[in-house]
Amino acid sequence: MEDVKEEIKSRLPVEDVVGDYIELKRAGRSLKGHSPWGVDRTPSFMVSPEKGIWHDFSAGKGGDIFTFIMEVEGISFREALEKLAARAGVELKKYSDGDKALAKRKLRARDALELATKYYQFALSKNKAACEYVFYNRNLNKQTLKEFRIGYSPNAKTPLVKFLTSKKYSKKELEDAGLLNQYGGDLFRGRMMIPFIDPNGVVIGYTARTLEKDGIPKYLNTPETFLFNKSRFVFGLYQAKPAIREKNYVVIVEGNMDVISSHQAGVKTTVATSGTAMTEQHLKILSRLTTDVRLAYDGDEAGLRATERVINLAGALGISLSVISDYHGCKDPDELIQKDPKLWQEAVENKKPAVDYLLDRYEETLNLNTAEGKKTYSDVAVRLISYLQDPIEKKHYEQLVAKRLDVTLEDLRAKKLPASRPKRLKQVKTTVDKTSLDTTLKLSGDCLLAIQLFGGSAGSDINFELPDDEATLNILSDLFNKYYGDWTEEDLKTEVKSLKDRYQKALKKLEIEKLAKELETVEDDEEKTNEIIRKIKAK
Ligand code: UTP
Ligand code: MN
Repeated sequence: MEDVKEEIKSRLPVEDVVGDYIELKRAGRSLKGHSPWGVDRTPSFMVSPEKGIWHDFSAGKGGDIFTFIMEVEGISFREALEKLAARAGVELKKYSDGDKALAKRKLRARDALELATKYYQFALSKNKAACEYVFYNRNLNKQTLKEFRIGYSPNAKTPLVKFLTSKKYSKKELEDAGLLNQYGGDLFRGRMMIPFIDPNGVVIGYTARTLEKDGIPKYLNTPETFLFNKSRFVFGLYQAKPAIREKNYVVIVEGNMDVISSHQAGVKTTVATSGTAMTEQHLKILSRLTTDVRLAYDGDEAGLRATERVINLAGALGISLSVISDYHGCKDPDELIQKDPKLWQEAVENKKPAVDYLLDRYEETLNLNTAEGKKTYSDVAVRLISYLQDPIEKKHYEQLVAKRLDVTLEDLRAKKLPASRPKRLKQVKTTVDKTSLDTTLKLSGDCLLAIQLFGGSAGSDINFELPDDEATLNILSDLFNKYYGDWTEEDLKTEVKSLKDRYQKALKKLEIEKLAKELETVEDDEEKTNEIIRKIKAK
């Protein structure tokens, strides 16, 4: 029971849980608000994010998130537990007894990462080249280094492993923490270390930048571990949360270094969600804090496509999405800030509603005097408008687009989006049946990945490695819109089951085929033959 409580607490910061009921304002290290029970003229309700507790001085009570929900909702502990478990996405039955060991492993991994972070911070102070890089190349100041806990991983095979081993951490524990490479040595070497810090201030991994101009890869990240989940983690949220609450908006940038620069430049509402690979989970987490979401993606084609994907996600969450685009010719926010922090502060205020931004961009690039231009423009416009949920907003853009195209509203509405679902579903299935195993594997895998990324809770049990590159993300986004755009959650869940089934079967068949081929090549070797036959039978 303690483990499940801890797991829920680690996912739900006390200020978020309380913040749903009471308006909280920052006061030093804690937050203050008015008591939900007593009548207090001055705020008498206090929350300590660091300790995960609250105290109500006027009503004379206090506790953790569980006691708060029990008190404020007037429900039992069990009911509060169930409610918060659902919100945190923690399954209760899983924890009834068996998983104590897992909770312990997580705790050890967290402790190892905390020590590693301190080690890297110390190593930075001792390395001249690394100091030069962070202070002079990246222009970071001491305060920023402290706030983001930036460090340096020494350029050698096993310094961190040796250090943590001396502190009684096992290889397995270091592997759990995502600190080892495939040979059991240090994963991170000779890089600027930027910790991934969860909403409670706990380090769960790193993104590590090479100090060289053309080092490859530019950033090396912690792999998915049981602490770090890329499709849920929002970089900088721990540091940005107070400002997001205060200003009531959030700025999302592409790069983690953009976040850090932005905070240093005084815009502390900035976060990043693994490049442009934003998922519904990311947006959900942010939408609990504010519904004013400002995207500051690069203005290239990839950024446009990413913006469109987010509009699609945002509609359903009641988010009002806008775009920050005035970079004065700079490549990204960091570059703009290096030029002049004021320009970035202004850019953040000069936002444009996302749909207007996209429509304007398309209008600039297409010739609306030609039939071809009008067709392409109306294709994207109708698609964009179809994402909008609010009828008034929808009407507004329909009128605007009709006017730009010089057509009537009826003409515009007569334009149909791609055909509806049942037909398409059939198409996928028949083609799959006729094609090779490889194609089945690829297609069902892609469908699963698309649902994982864009299908909300229907995709929450799918755990594929997420793609990094823009092209794949766009293909998956198109695939999702084309096949599943208008599906209910229920239908999607059923689809996931059948896709998983198809994927597993294809995988198995392929493995057997491979083993059978291998069998042909080892005729003479009896031992090997038997071994392969055993393997095939086990499938
Ligand atoms: P960019 O290449 O635009 O990097 O990638 P950047 O943030 O401007 O980096 P600097 O300023 O050159 O240091 C944007 C984001 O994509 C991810 C990182 O999250 C990065 O912030 N990325 C990029 C990786 O994960 N790995 C890479 O090799 C490159
Ligand atoms: Mn950059």
